[in-house]
Amino acid sequence: MTPLRFDVLTLFPGAFTGPLDVSMIRRARESGLVEIALHDIREHATDRHRSVDDYPFGGGQGMVMRVDVLDAALGHVRTLAEPPGHVVYLTPQGEPLTDRVVRQLAHHPRLILVCGRYEGVDERFIEQRVDREISIGDYVLTGGELPAMVLIDAVSRHVPGVLGDEASPADESFADGLLEHPQYTRPAEYHGWKVPEVLLGGDHASIERWRQEQRVERTRARRPDRLPPQESAGQDRHKVGINGVRVRSLNYPADVPALAQLWRAAGYEPGPLDEPRRLAALLDHAPGLAVVAEQAGQVIAAAVAGFDGLQADLYRVAVDPANRRRGIGSALVSTIEDRARQIGCQRIAAAPVTAEMMFLGSLGWREWRGLAYVRDL
Ligand code: ADE
Repeated sequence: MTPLRFDVLTLFPGAFTGPLDVSMIRRARESGLVEIALHDIREHATDRHRSVDDYPFGGGQGMVMRVDVLDAALGHVRTLAEPPGHVVYLTPQGEPLTDRVVRQLAHHPRLILVCGRYEGVDERFIEQRVDREISIGDYVLTGGELPAMVLIDAVSRHVPGVLGDEASPADESFADGLLEHPQYTRPAEYHGWKVPEVLLGGDHASIERWRQEQRVERTRARRPDRLPPQESAGQDRHKVGINGVRVRSLNYPADVPALAQLWRAAGYEPGPLDEPRRLAALLDHAPGLAVVAEQAGQVIAAAVAGFDGLQADLYRVAVDPANRRRGIGSALVSTIEDRARQIGCQRIAAAPVTAEMMFLGSLGWREWRGLAYVRDL
């Protein structure tokens, strides 16, 4: 097994000792599953003051990290190991670090993490050398060191063996969109605070059912934006009634080939939704608003919508030609409407109107000047 190698370019290598020297990451490093090499950017400064930053052209506050120093540091680090590595710059301007992004990063054998300080990094370094810009959240930290540690921890857990034999990140919270159920351990009673009875009984089927209900309940209460696929489908009004057809959330990337075929058959012009990266970004935003209909394990219809906070947009609907006129398109759209309503959306629109969308009129959508279909939810 080739280990996952992280190279970290930072002005503060000392910040990394401690957090990465304990528990699972320490064990992963000791057993050779994960390698972490720290590099001090300042060693690549060339002037007599060993400066790594300078005033921004055009004026303004703060200092900007120099492109020449960063490039020298990266060039040096690249000579130390193979392959050249995927360069990640940690910045609040980056795409959000989600479970999906973590899984993608875990496929790289070598990640080179660049930690910025001051007001940022000369844009030329980002344009020329950085493969991906990542943010760990919508707040500004004093530098990229803590974000880099967060990323290292999250990605390392996906290296086979790091979590131990039996544990797998595929089984946990976020793998299916649901939050975790609550956990309890001994004592069974403390200060009169009791552990839920069902957990003490040893009836594994009941325990599983209870845990699943808790997961759904928590997700609904705390993160309704994550719209659990199967569970919210259980509530969808139009799921039943079409023989052998199951409506579920779109699975990315597993459903991508089937989608491509459906879009083609429905005559859609190639557009952003044909780019897996764009589709993935849309799904991250509102995971439940892209749905498919499945029959005997085959995807026979799909509908994709997004929600920008103001209104939902139905971008595409396609039903396999052999399965048209069965109400499947309506079932998908109704599912999206229900889910959009659940996340507080009050209006859904579809534009441009395609031949496939004509049935929306029968679902209570109104045509708007021949340009769009709109429905208030
Ligand atoms: N550097 C400063 N703030 C950051 C953030 N939120 N994410 C990633 N890098 C950062």
